[in-house]
Amino acid sequence: MYFLLACLTPLYFGALISYRLFFHPLRNYPGPALAAITDSYEAYYNVIKDGALVAKLEALHRQHGPIVRIGPNTLHFNDKHAYHDIYTYGTTLTKEPEFYLGVSAHGTQTSVSFCDPQEAKERRALLGPLFSRKAVMELEYTVQKKIDKLVTVLADNHKSEKSAVAMDVAFRACTIDLITSYCFAESTNVLEVPNFAHYIMPVLQLIFTNVWSQRHFPLISSLANSAPQKLVLWLFPDFRVYAELTGRYERQINRIMKDPDSASTAEHKTVFHHLLDSRDQKPLSQQSLVHEAFTLVGAGTETTASACTVGTYHALKDGSIRQRLFEELRDAWLDADRPMSYAALEKLPYLTAFIKETLRFSIGVIHPLPRVTGPETPMIGGVKIPKGTVVEMSQLFLHMNPDVFPNPYNFNPDRWLVEDTTDMMLDLVPFSKGPRIWCVYFGSVLPMLKCPPVWESRSLAWCELYLIFGNIFRRLDMKLVVTEDTYVSPISIVIDDEGFNLT
Ligand code: HEM
Repeated sequence: MYFLLACLTPLYFGALISYRLFFHPLRNYPGPALAAITDSYEAYYNVIKDGALVAKLEALHRQHGPIVRIGPNTLHFNDKHAYHDIYTYGTTLTKEPEFYLGVSAHGTQTSVSFCDPQEAKERRALLGPLFSRKAVMELEYTVQKKIDKLVTVLADNHKSEKSAVAMDVAFRACTIDLITSYCFAESTNVLEVPNFAHYIMPVLQLIFTNVWSQRHFPLISSLANSAPQKLVLWLFPDFRVYAELTGRYERQINRIMKDPDSASTAEHKTVFHHLLDSRDQKPLSQQSLVHEAFTLVGAGTETTASACTVGTYHALKDGSIRQRLFEELRDAWLDADRPMSYAALEKLPYLTAFIKETLRFSIGVIHPLPRVTGPETPMIGGVKIPKGTVVEMSQLFLHMNPDVFPNPYNFNPDRWLVEDTTDMMLDLVPFSKGPRIWCVYFGSVLPMLKCPPVWESRSLAWCELYLIFGNIFRRLDMKLVVTEDTYVSPISIVIDDEGFNLT
């Protein structure tokens, strides 16, 4: 038996390798031979090289041209037309299940991870009204309150170089407090904790750090989700954080289930009261609700905080950007002690240009988002791709395309202040594109693309960005203490001793 196995194993792998190299429908696409043989190529760059896949893709495109075979069954594109084809023909392509179930191993029953278009549509229909323009406007008061707290904490506790604060942490504290308040009417209140040292902060970090292991070793997550908890924690102590967070979300959801009226005392509608109260819908299971909590809190915290960090870093690095932001805000917003509304901030041209440039630079989700071609998928980038192929393109290649954004690695809000920005707007896709971008409910650039009215509602993300940037650049005088060579690293910023309130 063992002998037979020992003989058959190399034969099996030999046959598989030959098939992938010489007979597979993608055999004629260029790319590293190792990538054509095994998905471990991608795993190596994501896990061992710590998320370096996108940098590798840049090098591969330079060498091989606009289409590269990056896995046995995967093509990565560097072609703006291909991007729009992949993410716009959303109904003829589906999300690639292995990727989505891997990266959202603790949220497999959610808007992000549903790969079946019908399931995804139903969940979006349920969540959509919570993120319409009207709903976001109703939430503005709460957003402003969290930002007031952020500004006060920075001004009071971080006035000198010695007390410099890592702004990515500060922004994350603000965005998580807001999204948890919106979800449960019970905020994490990280902004209240000195130095934002709330237990949930490292937990969130760990979840993001573990994402590549989950994606490439899904067995570990399946085991963790099905095996007895004590055994899982003994085998993988890191999973304690998921258990803690799951417990927290379960408690919050149970509280709402037991006392649905608790929403009436909240200052705004809340996501989970709405989900539990959707009488005309099939009730969601408790597991599905917990999964949605993981997704909404994760997605709503990290992306916005990261955009705020990137924008703040560039504004402080190039003092003239910061100065222009301040002057525009000061002229429009005379009394900094009274809030300025989101609707009024949206009208400021330089702030708007700055936010667009921030979204271009911060690249919401840098990893390519894989889609699977179906029988009716039209040509992609002018090429007919075999059915069942995984196709993808990282936003980086669109946002850093010199043909559309000259000198793309230069952070330059002025590029958005020209008369015609149509081409740039088409290729500014921080929230991705097509029917699977639930983030369209958060607004994005779609008004420019003449999308159906429901998609035109502007977003929670935009609302947060306008209010956060508006407030910190109007009300605080910040200074970059430690500059990093790379804009994705956490940065430290202090509020200048000389006067953080410039009124
Ligand atoms: C600057 C801020 C943001 C950026 C750049 C961003 C980016 C993105 C991107 C690129 C996707 C597409 C993922 C995919 O196709 O697999 C996405 C989806 C999603 N985002 Fe955001 N996002 C932001 C803010 C938010 C906020 C504030 C929330 C609120 C909870 C949120 C919740 C979601 C959800 C639930 C999805 C899944 C949609 C689906 O597949 O049906 N995002 N986001």
